[in-house]
Amino acid sequence: MSLTGFLLAAVAQLSQEAACEPWQPLARDGLHDPEAAGVPMLQSPAEALSVLPRDTAGNKVDWVRALDTDAIDPRESLDDDTALEVLDTEIVMRDTSTLNWVLFPHRPHTQWLACENCHESPFVARAGANPINMGKILDGEYCGVCHGAVAFPLTECNRCHSVRPDSVSARDVETTDPGETR
Ligand code: HEC
Ligand code: HEC
Ligand code: HEC
Repeated sequence: MSLTGFLLAAVAQLSQEAACEPWQPLARDGLHDPEAAGVPMLQSPAEALSVLPRDTAGNKVDWVRALDTDAIDPRESLDDDTALEVLDTEIVMRDTSTLNWVLFPHRPHTQWLACENCHESPFVARAGANPINMGKILDGEYCGVCHGAVAFPLTECNRCHSVRPDSVSARDVETTDPGETR
């Protein structure tokens, strides 16, 4: 199968998984046992999530905006004294064939996640040091450890592939050499 054919097939499958209605009642979500006595006692997803900034994909909440607008204020750590270290740098990945380049922003990640979640596994902390590609991501490696699992889904191509190659010189970003990322 060609690369494009492979990607399209993988995306069609992901889209099917994403196509179910937002915020199914727990008893009808296919995950909870509708007969279980505890299910009616749980808060419904619609009640909990509909008050947050909306998104068009995944669980229909824009979690980055929810945090930035103080709609939520999660504890940074289970022990009160450990604060997260927010890092505000961006890395542009340019080995993207005809698609827009990928911009990886540290800020919206380090607002939720300590460095150890990503360094040195799955990512060596050096721009261009990781042989990332889309097939591996769709297989659940690299960005795919979280995206499509607990963060916005892989059907949202443009959210990662967000940098038009002709716009990059205007940005204060670190760029990786296309040859370095393989
Ligand atoms: C979570 C972020 C993310 C999402 C969402 C995403 N990509 Fe990618 N994509 C990447 C990264 C990272 C690379 C590797 C870039 C590099 O190494 O320079 C990549 C590389 C690619 C490449 C280059 C060839 C290859 O095999 O690596 C193609 C084509 C591609 N993506 C297509 C897509 C399409 C189509 C979608 C949407 C259906 C998509 N991507 C969604 C992050 C993403
Ligand atoms: C969600 C995953 C993730 C988290 C969390 C994360 N990083 Fe990274 N980091 C990356 C990725 C992806 C790259 C780019 C690797 C590449 O280009 O192949 C990177 C690159 C780097 C680099 C090299 C590029 C540069 O900007 O100099 C440093 C240094 C770095 N990270 C430090 C940190 C520190 C410090 C933290 C915690 C405050 C952190 N990272 C948290 C994913 C993460
Ligand atoms: C350890 C988990 C993890 C990994 C690995 C990871 N991300 Fe994320 N990412 C998140 C979370 C959590 C968010 C915030 C919640 C959301 O947007 O779904 C996020 C948000 C983002 C955003 C949204 C920024 C915004 O302003 O909306 C982009 C872009 C992104 N990630 C790209 C990437 C790319 C590219 C990679 C791989 C190079 C990657 N991520 C790897 C967890 C991860």
